[in-house]
Amino acid sequence: MRVGVAGCGRWGTKAIREWATLANEGVITGVDVHDTNTAALKQAHKIQGVSRAHTDYDKMLREVDVVHVCVPNERHYSAAMDAIRVGRHVLVEKPLTTNVQDAQRLRRAAEESKVALAPGHVYRHDATVKYAKDQLAAAWLGKPLYAKAQWTAKHDPPTQWGPVWDLLPHPVDILNDVWGLWPQGWTGSRMGKQAKGAVFLLAQYAGGPSASFELSWLDAVRRRCIDFVHENGVASLDLAGQRFTTHDQNGLRQASPLPSNTLLAELRWFAAGCKDPARLRWATDAGVGCVRAVEAAAAVAP
Ligand SMILES: NC(=O)c1ccc[n+]([C@@H]2O[C@H](COP(=O)([O-])OP(=O)(O)OC[C@H]3O[C@@H](n4cnc5c(N)ncnc54)[C@H](O)[C@@H]3O)[C@@H](O)[C@H]2O)c1
Repeated sequence: MRVGVAGCGRWGTKAIREWATLANEGVITGVDVHDTNTAALKQAHKIQGVSRAHTDYDKMLREVDVVHVCVPNERHYSAAMDAIRVGRHVLVEKPLTTNVQDAQRLRRAAEESKVALAPGHVYRHDATVKYAKDQLAAAWLGKPLYAKAQWTAKHDPPTQWGPVWDLLPHPVDILNDVWGLWPQGWTGSRMGKQAKGAVFLLAQYAGGPSASFELSWLDAVRRRCIDFVHENGVASLDLAGQRFTTHDQNGLRQASPLPSNTLLAELRWFAAGCKDPARLRWATDAGVGCVRAVEAAAAVAP
């Protein structure tokens, strides 16, 4: 199985390196790359393990079995649809698309073509998230009351996409992974006229719990945190520090699961899933659910 990575920017380059690791292990047979920017394509071609660089996307599609879409958000839909139409399995970076109709079209097309389609929800493959999910499923914490997510870091915004589209997919998807719920309604606002890079959102979930989301590109501290406040205790997930802490009336317990190579784990999982695309339908559904949630959030705090 040969993999083609479309988009050799910041994230695409990381993905190419990990695909090259899988090629080296013999999990896949090779890695091709494509970018419309010649300089980026040239750089990617130099990565050890990359065999072919394509300036023409359609040509790459003819030569690979799997495509990893790492182009900017607004290009996800067309790059994925072109690949599905010619029978390629597709892993699309988050967000799957930039509106729910397009996400549903991709899901239908993938089912018809019997190919695998999954969003790059990388934290589903993170050891700390998996550990937190097991702990939160244990009865002692009781029912969820609310959660507080902080996704912050200082960096230049990607052109045209605000913090909601860029940052929210991760925490909203982690909450779905852990609670099994998507938000039913949103309120929120930008943090002041000058602060287009920071948004505060509040989501209501079916059955009672709610969640707040602080999303910021203006904050010098890199936070990837979610506190889960449940009936009998609090569980804190710190993905920047790879730590998971629980607090209850008996005190504090801290666990630091081994740091995992989350992206490599995701790519290994997707490569295995391509052998039986129906097994990945839950992931396609998570991609669609996440786009629906983010689109609704972006409508209240654009
Ligand atoms: N899963 C994650 O944690 C994670 C992290 C970062 C970024 N991402 C996602 O990855 C995607 C890319 O982000 P990035 O930070 O690498 O962006 P980037 O701007 O660094 O890279 C995008 C690349 O795509 C190329 N490109 C643009 N249009 C193209 C086209 N039509 N065909 C081929 N190549 C094209 C650009 O030349 C550039 O090299 C985004 O969707 C982003 O949301 C995911």
